[in-house]
Amino acid sequence: MKFGIRNTLHLCLPSLLILIVLSTEASDPSSIIARFQQYLQINTAQPNPEYKQAAEFIISQAKSFSLESHTIEFVNGKPLILLKWLGTNPALPSILLNSHTDVVPAEHQKWTHHPFGAHMDDNGNIYARGSQDMKCVGMQYLEAIRRLKASGFQPLRSIHLSFVPDEEIGGNAGAGTFSQSEVFNILNVGIVLDEGLPSPSENYRPFYAERSPWWLVIRTTGAPGHGAKLYDNTAMENLLKSIETIRRFRASQFDLVKAGLRADGEVVSVNMVFLKAGTPSPTDFVMNLQPSEAEAGFDIRVPPNADPGSLERRIAEEWAPTSRNMTFSFKQKEPLHDKFGKPFLTATDRSNPWWTLLEDAVRKPGGKLGKPEIFPASTDACYFREQGIAAIGFSPIANTPNLLHDHNEFLNQDEYLKGIEIYESIIKAFASFVDPERDRSSTDEL
Ligand SMILES: *[C@@H]1O[C@H](CO)[C@@H](O)[C@H](O)[C@H]1NC(C)=O
Ligand SMILES: [Zn+2]
Repeated sequence: MKFGIRNTLHLCLPSLLILIVLSTEASDPSSIIARFQQYLQINTAQPNPEYKQAAEFIISQAKSFSLESHTIEFVNGKPLILLKWLGTNPALPSILLNSHTDVVPAEHQKWTHHPFGAHMDDNGNIYARGSQDMKCVGMQYLEAIRRLKASGFQPLRSIHLSFVPDEEIGGNAGAGTFSQSEVFNILNVGIVLDEGLPSPSENYRPFYAERSPWWLVIRTTGAPGHGAKLYDNTAMENLLKSIETIRRFRASQFDLVKAGLRADGEVVSVNMVFLKAGTPSPTDFVMNLQPSEAEAGFDIRVPPNADPGSLERRIAEEWAPTSRNMTFSFKQKEPLHDKFGKPFLTATDRSNPWWTLLEDAVRKPGGKLGKPEIFPASTDACYFREQGIAAIGFSPIANTPNLLHDHNEFLNQDEYLKGIEIYESIIKAFASFVDPERDRSSTDEL
């Protein structure tokens, strides 16, 4: 039916009107949702994401409203798409809207709808891997910019959008390399927006920091012996003593969360993720032998305001003491401070004008903002904060259960559409911002 109407107009009205019809068509809710579904249907699940298809889709979207686009492959076959809307004063620090194009895998059989079908049910819930994490955000940025362009808005500051690969496998080939590159440097980024988490309440959840992963492995040796003999200094006993100590520490941190004194992201979390010990037999393990070695692995997450020195001492003196024949190493150990030695966090008070702008911009179209939080896991935002750049994790998803990496991940179409309005407001505020403190020199040059 729509085609019929458009064709008739085509025959009898000037092309200006056709443009208006086409552009209203591009902005009607059903087309907006259809584009979101199209992006969701591209299977970018690790470990074999369809990066090429995703890149082509994003570039075609950008072209449809004349955004400049570049494809950069820091690693072959892993494209990063960089889009640009030039500001009227490109000398001012710019805005970077970041999103990752990959998603985690999905177990198809356990979903009620196919994870790459983007099926919408009668309630308007759209089911797909990536509907929350974070293809929604990438598309919402684009839709918000499409609308701002159509409204005649002119950004003062340049706006960049990065669609990065590999976040779900650590981000080294994507945001990691990008944030340290000359390409990034010349963008002169003042503020980065990246992903947050869905909120089951009506308040959106902003994130100003994240915990650094410390992946610890502790090992011990001890005298081997008969399984029937009771004696001191076995490897198993040594390891168990450490595990008990670590468990007590874990409980003390968890108690703070349970008592409501700290949020998830504000404590040091420790979880045992592997145990390796025993003497293998051809079919199983030898049962009457106490092994001479044992080892265990822990995923530790450290908030930026923790004291890394005291945690390091705790590990060396209590969790893996040489007096119990223990050694330890880290599979990964991210710093708690950026390259300028400042704690890895973005200020959420008056000292950071971007924060104040965000607060006001979310409220203007009726959005509600919760208290800023520390992200409990990791995102690409840490790479930008490491460069000393302000970064806020924010996904405009309220009234929605958090189904990141879970079965039946979904987003309601109304929530998605509302999110576009929120971004429109934020981008407008960020891109128009004149900083009386910092921008004087670059404004004087004009
Ligand atoms: C350390 O290991 C050696 C054997 O490797 C053992 O003889 C000794 O008793 C162990 N000491 C402790 C404290 O476990
Ligand atoms: Zn994500």
